[in-house]
Amino acid sequence: MTTQHTKLNGWVREVADLCQPDSIHWCDGSREEYDRLMKEMVAGGMATPLAKRPNSFLFRSDPSDVARVESRTYISTSRKEEAGPTNNWIDPAELKATLKGLYKGCMRGRTLFVIPFSMGPVDSPIAKIGIEITDSPYVVCNMHIMTRVGTKVIEKLGADGEFIPCLHSIGAPLAPGQKDSSWPCAPLDQKYICHFPEENLIWSYGSGYGGNALLGKKCLALRIASAMAKREGWMAEHMLILRLTNPEGKRLHIAAAFPSACGKTNLAMLTPTIPGWKCECVGDDIAWIKIGPDGRPYAINPEYGFFGVAPGTSYDSNPSAMDTLKENIIFTNCALTDDGDIWWEGMDGAPPSHAIDWKGRDWAPGASEPAAHANSRFTAPARQCPVICPDWEKPEGVPIDIFIFGGRRASVMPLVHEAYSWDHGVFMGATASSETTAANIGAVGNLRRDPFAMLPFCGYNMADYFGHWLEMGDRFGNHAPRIFYVNWFRKSPEGKWLWPGFGDNSRVLKWMCERVEGKVGAVETPIGLMPKDGDLDLKGLAVAPADLAELLRLDADAWKIEIADIEKQFGQFGDRLPARLQKQLDDLRKRLG
Ligand code: OXD
Ligand code: MN
Repeated sequence: MTTQHTKLNGWVREVADLCQPDSIHWCDGSREEYDRLMKEMVAGGMATPLAKRPNSFLFRSDPSDVARVESRTYISTSRKEEAGPTNNWIDPAELKATLKGLYKGCMRGRTLFVIPFSMGPVDSPIAKIGIEITDSPYVVCNMHIMTRVGTKVIEKLGADGEFIPCLHSIGAPLAPGQKDSSWPCAPLDQKYICHFPEENLIWSYGSGYGGNALLGKKCLALRIASAMAKREGWMAEHMLILRLTNPEGKRLHIAAAFPSACGKTNLAMLTPTIPGWKCECVGDDIAWIKIGPDGRPYAINPEYGFFGVAPGTSYDSNPSAMDTLKENIIFTNCALTDDGDIWWEGMDGAPPSHAIDWKGRDWAPGASEPAAHANSRFTAPARQCPVICPDWEKPEGVPIDIFIFGGRRASVMPLVHEAYSWDHGVFMGATASSETTAANIGAVGNLRRDPFAMLPFCGYNMADYFGHWLEMGDRFGNHAPRIFYVNWFRKSPEGKWLWPGFGDNSRVLKWMCERVEGKVGAVETPIGLMPKDGDLDLKGLAVAPADLAELLRLDADAWKIEIADIEKQFGQFGDRLPARLQKQLDDLRKRLG
């Protein structure tokens, strides 16, 4: 493939001079290209074809390279304050010098792949073009599934179209004759996931895993895009998008932000348990939202596939995901069964009597470690999802009626509450909290504030991001979506889940829709509006009345502790915190008495 794009050709030459690959390959995004790379990776021992799933492969990563590395992720702006207190920061000149040292000769013995990709349908006015340079064929194949790759993108770029340069290396050059490992990568202290939002530039080094390496996803579509969105007056959010159709045929669109591994994919593909309601998936992880010609917010899913957390996915929890996974899938760090299938904890039926675990060792039920890594993943084409929305590739997106925030909290947060106003909703998003998960390398189960589920993904000062949300609300005016906060994960004092979750979450979504349509009222509480007795549709559901009461209980003492923690959170932003959010905190304190 050739291009007349002088800047692109120049950048590829410059990177090749620095990284010194053995060869250069421009990706055309074709099936032949995918098949050839997979064949080479199977021959090289990196990938295992799965007898039970056509055109599907299992990869096992290095045990040190199993998740995003927030501790090695940088927002490098010329002034530290622009990155803000929630991001790691290094001065751009210093960071670039360090990275150039690492990139020097880092692709020796390898092929440099140039991946032209579009985030969003190529013809969408909301889409953005990126070019990823990588030395990982695994990354190329994943990018084929997760983004729109190839010739069409180069054509769209023309001779001088704008693109976001995304440089990636696994950081493992090969000496002449050296045998490659099955998952080459650099040690943790040499991994760097760097963003230069003032230049729309991404440099990633040392990791081959997920969001560290598939640079269209977290790096471009969230960190760089959030900074662009602030400058240009739109929104880049860590949100699923779904369409809900009620029995009368009325459609509402919901965008929901939950931290990584908190059930976005499951909610996006929900099978409602209430009769007559239908849910269709537009996206499971990222939403780009712009104001349409009618003044309403319109969202597109910039991705082309799902990079979902495998453990816990089953016909019980998410039948649509299971049906998506039948063919053409890349599995990473799942277990391999003796009959050539994959397996993970929480899949339907009994565990296999024997498997090969994600580290390549024999495994049997009762083993001391799980067979699949807690952050094992599937990479799946979105078009294979049986409930994909027919409008999921509509260039102009779908109009959003409802925003939902939430997280994983064993206590305090009720099943659902609604914001009194846009500002109150922004306060709910800004103070969202969750227990940490295996999607990041670090401790699991620690409670942290994860504003708008964007803590690891906001490409600029979080306080300014709060301000941007407030401003967007002003611009939406009476088209502003209604805002709700949910918690599917509340437990009884004995540690039992109180809410069945999954398909039954449709009951909570139904209440939201009825609120938007003015069909039901609500109880005013200090923290927000909650369902009136009898308004949550619980028909056919065996939730004990005491459990329901606990799910919706407001624990005033616990909320006072919550307020103290929010004060601490807000304090880190100093006078950059929007006064409108401080007012929301003061109002909440007053309402709690
Ligand atoms: C993801 C994540 O992979 O949030 O989507 O970690
Ligand atoms: Mn995510």
